[in-house]
Amino acid sequence: MLSKRVEKALNAQIKIEAESSQVYLSMASWAEVKGLEGISQFMYKHSDEERMHMLKLIKFVNERGGHATISDLKAPKINFGTFQKMFQELYDHEIFVSKSINDLVHVTLEEKDYATHNFLQWYVAEQIEEEALARTILDKINLIGNDKGGLYLFDRDVQQITVESAASDAPE
Ligand code: FEO
Repeated sequence: MLSKRVEKALNAQIKIEAESSQVYLSMASWAEVKGLEGISQFMYKHSDEERMHMLKLIKFVNERGGHATISDLKAPKINFGTFQKMFQELYDHEIFVSKSINDLVHVTLEEKDYATHNFLQWYVAEQIEEEALARTILDKINLIGNDKGGLYLFDRDVQQITVESAASDAPE
């Protein structure tokens, strides 16, 4: 059984994952309108992954005797300026999500809820991979600079940059 405090903290994370899905969906739509097909597909996929993160939490809360609550969400931005700025925002957003997962893990330790602590290790590992992915992409963007041909190739290849490939590329 979840304590009220853990249940509340998990529900707050459900909202964050749902908002993350909306943020990336908005990025996908912006990129699609700009003709950045590959970047757009990457963001649509990322949005789906965030929804999966949210659903996994909802199921866990309900299975442990809590009530996963679905709340209204903060509206994401509509415009992102340049694709470079957009990927910087993606990185910053993942850092924010990692912090919130860490805070959540801390709550489970204080509440001596080792089952939830164990469940959350999946999210801890996922955040390491997501941060590595975002850093890999930012490094590639820095290499491209303002080169149009580079952007063309980046847009074509970004769909192949997966969480797994970024994790194995990441510097120690
Ligand atoms: Fe669900 Fe990108 O963190």
